Amino acid sequence: MSARAPVSDTVTSPAQQGLHRRIGVFDSGLGGLSVLRALHQYLPLADMLYVADSGHAPYGEKDTTEIIARSEYITDFLLTQGAQAIVIACNTATAAAAQHLRARWPDVPIIGVEPGVKPAVAHSPSGRIGVLATPGTLASPKFQHLVERHGRNAEITLQACPGLAKEIESGELDTPRLRELVAQFAGPLQEAQSDTIVLGCTHYPFVRPLFEQVLGPGVRIIDTSDAVARHVAHLVTELPACTPETSGSHIRFWSSGNPALLSQIMQRWFHLKTEAQALP
Ligand code: DGL
Repeated sequence: MSARAPVSDTVTSPAQQGLHRRIGVFDSGLGGLSVLRALHQYLPLADMLYVADSGHAPYGEKDTTEIIARSEYITDFLLTQGAQAIVIACNTATAAAAQHLRARWPDVPIIGVEPGVKPAVAHSPSGRIGVLATPGTLASPKFQHLVERHGRNAEITLQACPGLAKEIESGELDTPRLRELVAQFAGPLQEAQSDTIVLGCTHYPFVRPLFEQVLGPGVRIIDTSDAVARHVAHLVTELPACTPETSGSHIRFWSSGNPALLSQIMQRWFHLKTEAQALP
């Protein structure tokens, strides 16, 4: 992702490029950057406002009330900054807070993410799928409904991954501890002979190569960030044009943790020079 990347092949019209649209994106921390990367591919000219709530990460082991309060605070902040639509780039926050945010801001398009159970079931030759997600996502009623709706005819192994998102938050994507966690969480899915694995947390695409190494070439991995970005790209064409940013990068970042670390990570992971600010 670069601040002014060339228009991707997938973008077909100026409206879809997100010309003069402003989108707010948030996650508990760095995970939502996997969604932001996909959004930027579909909407290279849109203004993006990204909040990493790293000072409060991980969400996956927090109670719903706290996640709702954080999501509400961040959404309010992003709207104050001029966001026209909000992307909850976090499965855990979507499960806990999407309904609440939509009720509070009924006129704002609020787009969430959810584990790709539906595509996994559709693609699995054996019908044995695995879902990797945070404890909060797997325990949520929203996820249970998702499984009831799309997983009826599948054998689904659910694997909570406590500690994995937190480890990814350090910004190091290949450490002995990460390899240990990945092997530990992949183990039950291998035992169950799952042939299709859902990355049900937006942090996990950043360790996808580690999962691929452990699971081997016969296992398909499902990450829904591209599908979400496509959906958002379609949706923003309905929004009115806004006043474009006149100077600086059109992707802006805030962190409730360490903004300097977020800037370093943007440089290291995406070669994007940016100055993240402290979330007020
Ligand atoms: N990235 C988030 C998700 O998609 C949550 C990780 C966490 O903070 O526990 O679920």
